[in-house]
Amino acid sequence: APARAAPVRLARRAQALVDDASAAARQWGAFMPGVPDVTQFPHRAFGRIVARLWRDPAPELLTYSHGGGHPALREAVAEHLRVARAVRCDADQVLITEGVHQAIDLSLRMLADPSDTVWVEEPGYWGFHKLLQMGAWRVRPLRVEAEGDGPGAGWPRGGSAPRLIFVTPSHQYPLGSVMSLARRRELLDFARQSGSWIVEDDYDSEFRFAGRPIPSMQGLEDDSPVIYIGTFSKTLFPGLRVGYMVLPRALAAHFRTAHADLYREGHAITQVALAELIGQGHYAAHIRRMRVLYARRRALLAGLIAEHLGPDHLHPQASNAGLHLVLRLPEDRDDVAIMEAAQARGVLSRPLSRYYRRGDGRRGLLLGYACVEEANIEPAFRVLLDCIRP
Ligand SMILES: Cc1ncc(COP(=O)(O)O)c(C=O)c1O
Repeated sequence: APARAAPVRLARRAQALVDDASAAARQWGAFMPGVPDVTQFPHRAFGRIVARLWRDPAPELLTYSHGGGHPALREAVAEHLRVARAVRCDADQVLITEGVHQAIDLSLRMLADPSDTVWVEEPGYWGFHKLLQMGAWRVRPLRVEAEGDGPGAGWPRGGSAPRLIFVTPSHQYPLGSVMSLARRRELLDFARQSGSWIVEDDYDSEFRFAGRPIPSMQGLEDDSPVIYIGTFSKTLFPGLRVGYMVLPRALAAHFRTAHADLYREGHAITQVALAELIGQGHYAAHIRRMRVLYARRRALLAGLIAEHLGPDHLHPQASNAGLHLVLRLPEDRDDVAIMEAAQARGVLSRPLSRYYRRGDGRRGLLLGYACVEEANIEPAFRVLLDCIRP
Protein backbone atom coordinates (compact mmCIF):
# COMPACT_ATOMS: atom_id res chain seq x y z
CA ALA A 1 0.00 0.00 0.00
CA PRO A 2 2.75 2.58 0.83
CA ALA A 3 4.30 1.95 -2.60
CA ARG A 4 0.97 2.80 -4.24
CA ALA A 5 0.28 5.77 -1.95
CA ALA A 6 3.46 7.63 -2.93
CA PRO A 7 2.52 8.29 -6.59
CA VAL A 8 -0.97 9.36 -5.50
CA ARG A 9 0.52 11.78 -2.97
CA LEU A 10 2.90 13.14 -5.58
CA ALA A 11 0.08 13.60 -8.09
CA ARG A 12 -2.02 15.45 -5.48
CA ARG A 13 0.94 17.64 -4.57
CA ALA A 14 1.57 18.43 -8.25
CA GLN A 15 -2.12 19.33 -8.71
CA ALA A 16 -1.99 21.56 -5.60
CA LEU A 17 1.03 23.38 -7.04
CA VAL A 18 -0.78 23.90 -10.34
CA ASP A 19 -3.89 25.19 -8.48
CA ASP A 20 -1.77 27.59 -6.38
CA ALA A 21 0.00 28.88 -9.48
CA SER A 22 -3.32 29.44 -11.30
CA ALA A 23 -4.80 31.26 -8.30
CA ALA A 24 -1.70 33.46 -8.09
CA ALA A 25 -1.82 34.13 -11.83
CA ARG A 26 -5.48 35.15 -11.58
CA GLN A 27 -4.86 37.39 -8.60
CA TRP A 28 -1.72 39.01 -9.97
CA GLY A 29 -2.64 38.99 -13.60
CA ALA A 30 -4.34 42.40 -13.82
CA PHE A 31 -2.71 44.73 -16.36
CA MET A 32 0.26 42.45 -17.03
CA PRO A 33 1.51 43.80 -20.39
CA GLY A 34 1.98 41.51 -23.35
CA VAL A 35 -0.26 38.70 -22.13
CA PRO A 36 -3.26 37.69 -24.27
CA ASP A 37 -6.47 36.24 -22.84
CA VAL A 38 -5.41 32.60 -22.87
CA THR A 39 -8.83 31.43 -21.63
CA GLN A 40 -10.22 32.25 -25.08
CA PHE A 41 -7.86 29.94 -26.99
CA PRO A 42 -9.95 27.59 -29.20
CA HIS A 43 -8.81 24.59 -27.16
CA ARG A 44 -11.64 22.31 -28.27
CA ALA A 45 -10.78 22.64 -31.97
CA PHE A 46 -7.04 22.30 -31.22
CA GLY A 47 -7.66 19.36 -28.87
CA ARG A 48 -9.69 17.52 -31.55
CA ILE A 49 -6.87 17.96 -34.08
CA VAL A 50 -4.18 16.88 -31.60
CA ALA A 51 -6.22 13.85 -30.46
CA ARG A 52 -6.67 12.71 -34.06
CA LEU A 53 -2.96 13.07 -34.81
CA TRP A 54 -2.10 11.04 -31.71
CA ARG A 55 -4.58 8.25 -32.48
CA ASP A 56 -2.26 6.89 -35.13
CA PRO A 57 0.84 9.09 -35.16
CA ALA A 58 2.93 9.10 -38.30
CA PRO A 59 6.43 7.84 -37.32
CA GLU A 60 8.11 10.79 -39.05
CA LEU A 61 6.37 13.11 -36.58
CA LEU A 62 7.97 11.30 -33.64
CA THR A 63 11.58 11.07 -34.70
CA TYR A 64 14.28 13.72 -35.20
CA SER A 65 13.04 16.56 -37.35
CA HIS A 66 15.12 18.49 -39.78
CA GLY A 67 14.77 21.52 -41.95
CA GLY A 68 13.42 24.61 -40.21
CA GLY A 69 10.01 23.39 -39.10
CA HIS A 70 7.32 21.11 -40.52
CA PRO A 71 6.58 21.98 -44.18
CA ALA A 72 2.82 22.16 -43.50
CA LEU A 73 3.29 24.87 -40.87
CA ARG A 74 5.85 26.77 -42.93
CA GLU A 75 3.38 26.80 -45.83
CA ALA A 76 0.49 27.91 -43.58
CA VAL A 77 2.58 30.67 -41.97
CA ALA A 78 3.81 31.94 -45.37
CA GLU A 79 0.23 32.09 -46.69
CA HIS A 80 -1.05 33.86 -43.55
CA LEU A 81 1.77 36.43 -43.58
CA ARG A 82 1.36 37.19 -47.28
CA VAL A 83 -2.32 37.96 -46.77
CA ALA A 84 -2.42 39.44 -43.26
CA ARG A 85 0.93 41.25 -43.06
CA ALA A 86 1.88 41.87 -46.72
CA VAL A 87 5.11 39.93 -46.18
CA ARG A 88 6.83 38.94 -49.44
CA CYS A 89 7.81 35.31 -48.92
CA ASP A 90 7.40 31.69 -49.81
CA ALA A 91 7.57 28.73 -47.47
CA ASP A 92 11.30 28.16 -48.18
CA GLN A 93 12.08 31.43 -46.44
CA VAL A 94 10.10 30.55 -43.30
CA LEU A 95 11.87 29.05 -40.30
CA ILE A 96 9.79 27.87 -37.35
CA THR A 97 11.29 28.89 -33.98
CA GLU A 98 10.41 28.58 -30.32
CA GLY A 99 9.47 32.26 -30.23
CA VAL A 100 10.96 35.69 -30.70
CA HIS A 101 13.79 35.24 -28.20
CA GLN A 102 15.15 32.23 -30.07
CA ALA A 103 14.90 34.14 -33.35
CA ILE A 104 16.87 37.08 -31.90
CA ASP A 105 19.47 34.72 -30.43
CA LEU A 106 19.90 32.97 -33.78
CA SER A 107 20.19 36.27 -35.69
CA LEU A 108 22.88 37.52 -33.31
CA ARG A 109 24.86 34.27 -33.45
CA MET A 110 24.66 34.10 -37.23
CA LEU A 111 25.25 37.69 -38.20
CA ALA A 112 27.05 39.66 -35.49
CA ASP A 113 30.63 39.07 -34.47
CA PRO A 114 31.73 40.03 -30.95
CA SER A 115 32.39 43.79 -30.84
CA ASP A 116 30.13 44.43 -33.86
CA THR A 117 27.75 47.34 -33.46
CA VAL A 118 24.02 46.75 -33.15
CA TRP A 119 21.28 49.34 -32.91
CA VAL A 120 18.30 48.85 -30.70
CA GLU A 121 15.25 51.02 -30.09
CA GLU A 122 15.23 53.30 -27.05
CA PRO A 123 12.91 52.77 -25.25
CA GLY A 124 12.78 49.16 -26.30
CA TYR A 125 11.80 45.60 -25.59
CA TRP A 126 13.57 44.20 -22.51
CA GLY A 127 14.05 40.90 -24.39
CA PHE A 128 16.39 42.61 -26.88
CA HIS A 129 18.29 44.24 -24.02
CA LYS A 130 18.66 41.00 -22.04
CA LEU A 131 19.96 39.04 -25.00
CA LEU A 132 22.33 41.83 -25.99
CA GLN A 133 23.78 41.88 -22.47
CA MET A 134 24.99 38.33 -23.05
CA GLY A 135 27.53 39.25 -25.70
CA ALA A 136 30.25 41.82 -26.33
CA TRP A 137 28.33 43.68 -29.00
CA ARG A 138 28.40 47.48 -29.05
CA VAL A 139 24.81 48.39 -28.39
CA ARG A 140 23.72 51.84 -29.52
CA PRO A 141 20.31 53.44 -28.97
CA LEU A 142 17.96 54.36 -31.78
CA ARG A 143 15.87 57.02 -30.06
CA VAL A 144 12.29 56.42 -31.12
CA GLU A 145 10.84 59.65 -29.72
CA ALA A 146 13.07 61.76 -31.97
CA GLU A 147 11.53 60.34 -35.17
CA GLY A 148 9.47 63.44 -35.87
CA ASP A 149 12.54 65.72 -35.77
CA GLY A 150 13.60 65.03 -39.37
CA PRO A 151 15.62 62.52 -41.39
CA GLY A 152 17.98 60.43 -39.32
CA ALA A 153 16.92 62.10 -36.08
CA GLY A 154 17.55 59.91 -33.05
CA TRP A 155 19.95 57.57 -34.91
CA PRO A 156 23.38 56.96 -33.40
CA ARG A 157 26.02 59.29 -34.84
CA GLY A 158 29.56 58.20 -35.73
CA GLY A 159 31.04 54.83 -34.85
CA SER A 160 30.94 51.80 -37.10
CA ALA A 161 27.90 50.82 -39.13
CA PRO A 162 25.52 48.46 -37.35
CA ARG A 163 25.40 44.79 -38.31
CA LEU A 164 21.88 44.47 -36.97
CA ILE A 165 19.12 47.00 -36.33
CA PHE A 166 16.31 45.78 -34.04
CA VAL A 167 12.98 47.54 -34.56
CA THR A 168 9.24 47.13 -33.90
CA PRO A 169 7.92 49.32 -36.77
CA SER A 170 4.23 48.38 -36.81
CA HIS A 171 3.65 48.84 -33.08
CA GLN A 172 6.64 50.17 -31.23
CA TYR A 173 7.32 48.38 -27.98
CA PRO A 174 6.65 49.83 -25.46
CA LEU A 175 5.31 53.22 -26.69
CA GLY A 176 2.86 51.88 -29.27
CA SER A 177 3.76 54.32 -32.07
CA VAL A 178 3.90 53.34 -35.77
CA MET A 179 7.07 54.01 -37.77
CA SER A 180 6.16 56.29 -40.68
CA LEU A 181 6.53 55.15 -44.27
CA ALA A 182 9.23 57.77 -44.86
CA ARG A 183 11.20 56.51 -41.86
CA ARG A 184 10.86 52.89 -43.00
CA ARG A 185 12.22 53.76 -46.45
CA GLU A 186 15.02 55.78 -44.91
CA LEU A 187 16.04 52.86 -42.69
CA LEU A 188 15.84 50.38 -45.59
CA ASP A 189 18.06 52.65 -47.75
CA PHE A 190 20.50 53.05 -44.89
CA ALA A 191 20.65 49.28 -44.29
CA ARG A 192 21.31 48.58 -47.98
CA GLN A 193 24.08 51.18 -48.14
CA SER A 194 25.78 50.13 -44.92
CA GLY A 195 25.39 46.37 -45.33
CA SER A 196 23.23 46.07 -42.20
CA TRP A 197 20.32 43.72 -41.55
CA ILE A 198 17.10 45.04 -40.08
CA VAL A 199 15.38 42.69 -37.61
CA GLU A 200 11.65 43.50 -37.67
CA ASP A 201 9.85 42.19 -34.58
CA ASP A 202 6.17 42.08 -35.59
CA TYR A 203 5.02 40.61 -32.29
CA ASP A 204 1.38 41.80 -31.99
CA SER A 205 0.39 43.55 -35.24
CA GLU A 206 -2.64 41.32 -35.81
CA PHE A 207 -4.43 43.43 -33.20
CA ARG A 208 -5.22 46.78 -34.75
CA PHE A 209 -8.56 48.24 -33.70
CA ALA A 210 -8.99 51.28 -35.92
CA GLY A 211 -7.76 52.54 -39.25
CA ARG A 212 -6.16 50.49 -41.99
CA PRO A 213 -3.77 47.63 -41.18
CA ILE A 214 -0.11 48.69 -41.13
CA PRO A 215 1.74 46.37 -43.53
CA SER A 216 5.09 44.90 -42.57
CA MET A 217 8.34 46.71 -43.34
CA GLN A 218 9.74 43.52 -44.88
CA GLY A 219 7.12 43.66 -47.62
CA LEU A 220 7.84 47.23 -48.72
CA GLU A 221 10.50 46.14 -51.22
CA ASP A 222 11.60 43.03 -53.06
CA ASP A 223 14.54 41.30 -51.39
CA SER A 224 14.56 43.82 -48.56
CA PRO A 225 17.44 43.51 -46.07
CA VAL A 226 14.94 42.52 -43.38
CA ILE A 227 14.68 39.50 -41.13
CA TYR A 228 11.01 39.38 -40.21
CA ILE A 229 10.11 37.81 -36.85
CA GLY A 230 6.70 36.87 -35.48
CA THR A 231 5.16 34.73 -32.77
CA PHE A 232 2.01 32.81 -31.86
CA SER A 233 2.51 33.95 -28.23
CA LYS A 234 0.13 36.90 -28.62
CA THR A 235 -2.37 35.53 -31.12
CA LEU A 236 -2.72 32.13 -29.36
CA PHE A 237 -0.87 31.67 -26.06
CA PRO A 238 2.72 32.25 -24.87
CA GLY A 239 3.18 28.75 -23.42
CA LEU A 240 2.88 27.30 -26.92
CA ARG A 241 6.45 28.51 -27.64
CA VAL A 242 6.05 28.65 -31.41
CA GLY A 243 7.19 31.56 -33.53
CA TYR A 244 8.64 32.10 -36.98
CA MET A 245 11.22 34.00 -38.98
CA VAL A 246 11.03 35.03 -42.62
CA LEU A 247 14.57 35.18 -43.93
CA PRO A 248 16.05 36.93 -46.94
CA ARG A 249 16.71 34.26 -49.59
CA ALA A 250 20.49 34.53 -49.23
CA LEU A 251 20.28 33.63 -45.54
CA ALA A 252 17.52 31.03 -45.40
CA ALA A 253 19.48 27.80 -45.91
CA HIS A 254 22.30 28.87 -43.53
CA PHE A 255 19.82 29.73 -40.80
CA ARG A 256 17.97 26.43 -41.23
CA THR A 257 21.17 24.43 -40.82
CA ALA A 258 22.35 26.46 -37.83
CA HIS A 259 18.93 26.24 -36.19
CA ALA A 260 18.95 22.44 -36.48
CA ASP A 261 22.55 22.19 -35.20
CA LEU A 262 22.04 24.55 -32.27
CA TYR A 263 18.59 23.72 -30.96
CA ARG A 264 17.63 20.26 -32.33
CA GLU A 265 14.09 21.08 -33.38
CA GLY A 266 11.04 18.97 -32.49
CA HIS A 267 7.35 19.37 -31.57
CA ALA A 268 6.36 18.16 -35.04
CA ILE A 269 2.87 17.06 -33.90
CA THR A 270 2.21 20.50 -32.40
CA GLN A 271 3.40 22.13 -35.61
CA VAL A 272 1.16 19.97 -37.81
CA ALA A 273 -1.79 20.62 -35.47
CA LEU A 274 -1.15 24.35 -35.70
CA ALA A 275 -1.00 24.15 -39.49
CA GLU A 276 -4.40 22.44 -39.47
CA LEU A 277 -5.81 25.01 -37.04
CA ILE A 278 -4.77 27.72 -39.48
CA GLY A 279 -5.89 25.75 -42.56
CA GLN A 280 -9.35 25.09 -41.14
CA GLY A 281 -9.88 28.81 -40.52
CA HIS A 282 -9.91 28.63 -36.70
CA TYR A 283 -6.83 30.84 -36.39
CA ALA A 284 -8.20 33.71 -38.47
CA ALA A 285 -11.58 33.42 -36.71
CA HIS A 286 -9.89 33.50 -33.29
CA ILE A 287 -7.94 36.64 -34.22
CA ARG A 288 -11.13 38.33 -35.44
CA ARG A 289 -12.91 37.46 -32.17
CA MET A 290 -9.99 38.63 -30.03
CA ARG A 291 -9.78 41.88 -31.96
CA VAL A 292 -13.34 42.73 -30.92
CA LEU A 293 -12.75 41.65 -27.31
CA TYR A 294 -9.44 43.52 -26.91
CA ALA A 295 -10.82 46.66 -28.60
CA ARG A 296 -13.59 46.76 -25.97
CA ARG A 297 -11.15 46.26 -23.11
CA ARG A 298 -8.80 48.89 -24.47
CA ALA A 299 -11.60 51.43 -24.91
CA LEU A 300 -12.78 50.79 -21.35
CA LEU A 301 -9.33 51.31 -19.84
CA ALA A 302 -8.50 54.32 -22.03
CA GLY A 303 -11.87 55.84 -21.07
CA LEU A 304 -11.13 55.40 -17.36
CA ILE A 305 -7.70 57.01 -17.73
CA ALA A 306 -9.15 59.96 -19.64
CA GLU A 307 -12.02 60.38 -17.17
CA HIS A 308 -10.00 60.17 -13.94
CA LEU A 309 -6.57 61.51 -14.94
CA GLY A 310 -7.18 63.42 -18.17
CA PRO A 311 -6.54 62.54 -21.84
CA ASP A 312 -2.95 63.83 -21.68
CA HIS A 313 -2.13 60.77 -19.56
CA LEU A 314 -2.45 58.56 -22.64
CA HIS A 315 0.70 58.39 -24.72
CA PRO A 316 0.14 60.90 -27.57
CA GLN A 317 1.64 58.80 -30.36
CA ALA A 318 0.14 55.48 -29.31
CA SER A 319 -1.82 53.83 -32.09
CA ASN A 320 -5.07 52.03 -31.41
CA ALA A 321 -3.53 48.57 -31.40
CA GLY A 322 -1.86 45.79 -29.46
CA LEU A 323 -2.34 44.29 -26.02
CA HIS A 324 -1.24 47.18 -23.79
CA LEU A 325 -1.30 50.95 -23.50
CA VAL A 326 0.94 53.45 -21.80
CA LEU A 327 -0.35 55.63 -18.98
CA ARG A 328 1.93 58.67 -18.96
CA LEU A 329 2.96 60.16 -15.62
CA PRO A 330 4.52 63.55 -14.87
CA GLU A 331 8.30 63.38 -15.07
CA ASP A 332 8.67 64.01 -11.33
CA ARG A 333 6.69 60.89 -10.39
CA ASP A 334 8.46 57.64 -9.48
CA ASP A 335 6.83 55.04 -11.71
CA VAL A 336 8.78 52.19 -10.08
CA ALA A 337 7.42 53.10 -6.64
CA ILE A 338 3.86 53.35 -8.01
CA MET A 339 4.21 49.97 -9.73
CA GLU A 340 5.42 48.43 -6.45
CA ALA A 341 2.61 49.95 -4.41
CA ALA A 342 0.01 48.65 -6.88
CA GLN A 343 1.66 45.23 -7.01
CA ALA A 344 1.45 44.97 -3.21
CA ARG A 345 -2.30 45.34 -3.67
CA GLY A 346 -2.51 42.71 -6.39
CA VAL A 347 -2.42 44.91 -9.50
CA LEU A 348 0.46 44.37 -11.91
CA SER A 349 1.92 46.91 -14.34
CA ARG A 350 5.38 47.77 -15.67
CA PRO A 351 7.19 51.11 -15.17
CA LEU A 352 7.96 52.87 -18.48
CA SER A 353 11.28 54.27 -17.20
CA ARG A 354 12.68 50.72 -17.00
CA TYR A 355 12.44 50.35 -20.78
CA TYR A 356 15.16 52.97 -21.27
CA ARG A 357 18.71 51.74 -21.04
CA ARG A 358 19.84 55.15 -19.81
CA GLY A 359 18.53 56.36 -16.49
CA ASP A 360 16.63 59.38 -17.82
CA GLY A 361 13.62 57.68 -19.33
CA ARG A 362 10.08 59.00 -19.34
CA ARG A 363 7.73 58.08 -16.54
CA GLY A 364 4.61 56.03 -17.00
CA LEU A 365 3.02 52.64 -16.57
CA LEU A 366 2.52 49.93 -19.18
CA LEU A 367 -0.91 48.45 -18.66
CA GLY A 368 -1.92 45.24 -20.40
CA TYR A 369 -5.67 45.13 -20.89
CA ALA A 370 -5.96 42.01 -23.03
CA CYS A 371 -5.88 39.53 -20.17
CA VAL A 372 -8.27 41.40 -17.83
CA GLU A 373 -11.96 40.55 -17.89
CA GLU A 374 -14.08 43.60 -18.48
CA ALA A 375 -15.72 43.34 -15.04
CA ASN A 376 -12.27 43.53 -13.40
CA ILE A 377 -10.90 46.50 -15.33
CA GLU A 378 -12.51 49.26 -13.29
CA PRO A 379 -11.81 47.70 -9.83
CA ALA A 380 -8.15 47.11 -10.78
CA PHE A 381 -7.88 50.61 -12.23
CA ARG A 382 -9.24 52.12 -8.99
CA VAL A 383 -6.47 50.40 -7.02
CA LEU A 384 -3.96 51.84 -9.47
CA LEU A 385 -5.52 55.28 -9.21
CA ASP A 386 -5.17 55.15 -5.45
CA CYS A 387 -1.46 54.47 -5.85
CA ILE A 388 -1.01 57.20 -8.50
CA ARG A 389 -2.79 60.02 -6.70
CA PRO A 390 -0.24 61.68 -4.46
C1 LIG B 1 8.18 43.32 -28.44
C2 LIG B 1 8.04 41.88 -28.06
N1 LIG B 1 8.63 40.95 -28.82
C3 LIG B 1 8.54 39.65 -28.49
C4 LIG B 1 7.86 39.21 -27.37
C5 LIG B 1 7.84 37.77 -26.96
O1 LIG B 1 7.71 36.85 -27.97
P1 LIG B 1 7.92 35.32 -27.69
O2 LIG B 1 6.96 34.88 -26.64
O3 LIG B 1 7.63 34.69 -29.00
O4 LIG B 1 9.35 35.08 -27.28
C6 LIG B 1 7.24 40.14 -26.57
C7 LIG B 1 6.52 39.69 -25.36
O5 LIG B 1 6.07 40.43 -24.52
C8 LIG B 1 7.32 41.51 -26.93
O6 LIG B 1 6.73 42.43 -26.17
